[in-house]
Amino acid sequence: MSMVAQLTHRGLAQLAKQYGGLMHLRMGLHDMVVVSTPDMAREVLQGQDSVFANRSSSFVATYLSYNRADMSFANYGPFWRQMRKICVMKLFSRKRVETWDSVGDEINKMVQAVATKTGSPTDLSKVASSLTSHITYKAAFGTNSREGEEGQFETILQEFSKLFAEFNVADFIPWLSWIYTKDLKRRLVNVRGALDVFIDKLIDEHLAKKSNKNSKDENEAAATDMVDELVSFLDEGADHENIKSTDSLSTFKLNRDNIKGLIMDIMIGGTETVASVIEWAMTELMKNPEELKKVQEELSNVVGLCRRVQDSDLENLTYLKCTLKETLRLHPPIPLVFHETAKDTMLAGYLIPARWSVVINTWAIGRDKTAWDEPNAFKPSRFLEPGAKDFKGNDFEFIPFGSGRRSCPGMQLGFYVLEKCVAELVHCFTWELHGGMKGSEIDMSDNFGLTTPKAIPLVVVPSYRLECAL
Ligand code: HEM
Repeated sequence: MSMVAQLTHRGLAQLAKQYGGLMHLRMGLHDMVVVSTPDMAREVLQGQDSVFANRSSSFVATYLSYNRADMSFANYGPFWRQMRKICVMKLFSRKRVETWDSVGDEINKMVQAVATKTGSPTDLSKVASSLTSHITYKAAFGTNSREGEEGQFETILQEFSKLFAEFNVADFIPWLSWIYTKDLKRRLVNVRGALDVFIDKLIDEHLAKKSNKNSKDENEAAATDMVDELVSFLDEGADHENIKSTDSLSTFKLNRDNIKGLIMDIMIGGTETVASVIEWAMTELMKNPEELKKVQEELSNVVGLCRRVQDSDLENLTYLKCTLKETLRLHPPIPLVFHETAKDTMLAGYLIPARWSVVINTWAIGRDKTAWDEPNAFKPSRFLEPGAKDFKGNDFEFIPFGSGRRSCPGMQLGFYVLEKCVAELVHCFTWELHGGMKGSEIDMSDNFGLTTPKAIPLVVVPSYRLECAL
């Protein structure tokens, strides 16, 4: 237990240097295998994907996910598969134009807000968090959500995030839980209670809208947000005991806990992850001004200084894409990915018993010396080289979104937000560090938690760059 402070992506990477790419840790009564090299990750996520596709869940995660009624903490199996289909086909798909359109609207609002800060210090961590929470909130609950409620939801979300990231001794030594978890339990009950009140009200409003077939405005009754999509599967008494792999999605039902769990998955999965990568991308560009210049030159050539970035420009912004990939390699927002074995298995000649946690250190893998030249340097041009790695899950040297069955279902949406947001920030404004600070003086340390944001927020001063009005 004296090693607890080392249970971060950096601490575990350090231990892996000494003990290797596959490492067994026993923390109290809990056994954990840590995977830190591309070869081992390939074995786990591709070679034996189905054996390693369960999710390990902590005391906090189990409570906050309504006893694993969501997708992220569900074990691999027929229930998870149906939940995943709902996410991929109904919630994140390119066909859900409302979601993708709201990204553009929110980025536009962000640009207008930054423009009012021209010449003054601007905390980019706040800009990025506010953008991504607005995007996921609008996608989940619709554009008609009332003023004030968003702030209330953000407070709930922040407490969820803090609780998820908290170390809890009961996960390692369960019989100590009665001493240490009293305050934690109180916080868990309070925050889940607050979420119940919030989402139950929303579900009821959406149900009323759905049953209002005679609505004057036809569009109002149509599915416009994720809750609309989810309530179309609602059956208050649905249980998933006898669900089979062959069942079709048309007969699948969700109870309220499933809906609440899925909404939290989306809000938690899509908000802090994307915000932290936006801040890191801007940080690396401020630290490496020659790279910022290259991205801005590309924007000047492809878009020109007389208009804003449009979706159709993104495919031509190759260097921007490389910059974001390089940021994801150095700063994956989920540096430790938790899985669990479904049964006993052999891995690299070692027996790994069923129900052991398997932690994949995507941060260490992205900086693996054998896979990457100058692994700690920020060099976006490495992604221009022939045969360069991609994050789609086939190159195990670069897995910021994971790989295999449990890989991130929000990858396409998440990368689109990153591209559009950073493109607009860098295209519409020139940036200087606050207080005459030099790029080389930026503090690059990160905070380990649910995600790994910059420990000290990036404060920069924007000035307007375009030759036309916004
Ligand atoms: C830069 C952006 C993002 C990164 C780097 C990222 C990364 C990841 C990673 C590493 C995993 C775990 C994969 C595994 O277990 O093997 C994951 C899972 C997940 N992500 Fe993302 N994510 C991002 C954005 C998003 C967005 C925008 C959403 C939703 C709106 C989302 C929703 C989820 C969900 C629901 C899961 C759980 C999947 C499952 O358990 O089956 N993510 N993500």
